[in-house]
Amino acid sequence: MLRVENVAVRFGGVQAVKDMSLECPPGRVTGLIGPNGAGKTTLFNVITGLQKPESGRVLLDDRDLTRLPTQRRARAGLARTFQRLEVFGSLTVRENVLLAAELKRGWSRKGDVPVAVADLLLARVGLSALADSQAGALPTGSARLLELARALATQPSVLLLDEPGSGLSELESRALGDLLLSLAAEGMSVLLVEHDVELVMRVCEHVYVLDFGELLCEGPPTHVQADTRVQAAYLGAELVTA
Ligand SMILES: Nc1ncnc2c1ncn2[C@@H]1O[C@H](COP(=O)(O)OP(=O)(O)OP(=O)(O)O)[C@@H](O)[C@H]1O
Ligand SMILES: [Mg+2]
Repeated sequence: MLRVENVAVRFGGVQAVKDMSLECPPGRVTGLIGPNGAGKTTLFNVITGLQKPESGRVLLDDRDLTRLPTQRRARAGLARTFQRLEVFGSLTVRENVLLAAELKRGWSRKGDVPVAVADLLLARVGLSALADSQAGALPTGSARLLELARALATQPSVLLLDEPGSGLSELESRALGDLLLSLAAEGMSVLLVEHDVELVMRVCEHVYVLDFGELLCEGPPTHVQADTRVQAAYLGAELVTA
């Protein structure tokens, strides 16, 4: 179980996150939504250790990760994808995933053969046919799926996804939703930041809504969808009609 407690982040005059708490239990996809600039990515950065919070804690199964560097958090079981894609462009698709699988093997000195892990994951995200392509040449949708495969290659217990659906076709987005549900069914904690309302509504059991760095509302998707403050703050007609 990933737990964020009373996290606050300030950038100069901007209070990007204010007293935010959330829980991301194993076996479910938890949503984190909110308008542009609400603080979603900043919260991901706090969870993964790229951003030091002003106050608050990040806990994984009651272990306090707040002061650990990013790589120690990765070893502890956290993996993420980035809103601004971060694939290694000069490597092939397979090599990108292999790198993460090798890292994992280096930490744990056990587990599956990295090449086998990489090929299995590429198949799982639907990129097998592109395994030998250069990652830098991929269209956005495929690059997002590659980031997802790479994150999975460290065999995380908590997966943080920052807008994985952006740039995906309707078909790819549907497949992504199925994959997230199957990962959760295998026991993973998935935290999903996403503007694609349909995807959030379909896969999330619980949704947190951030607005100006603060929790506006939380609950099952239907509850959040019906909240007039949420509609006013962010989703408007888009969510009402979804
Ligand atoms: N490194 C930074 N320095 C200064 N301000 C920042 C920095 N990173 C984020 N901010 C500000 O913090 C606030 C929250 O930004 P953040 O990127 O977390 O929002 P977001 O919810 O991820 O938005 P989006 O949906 O557009 O990705 C915004 O006002 C943003 O301008
Ligand atoms: Mg963001």
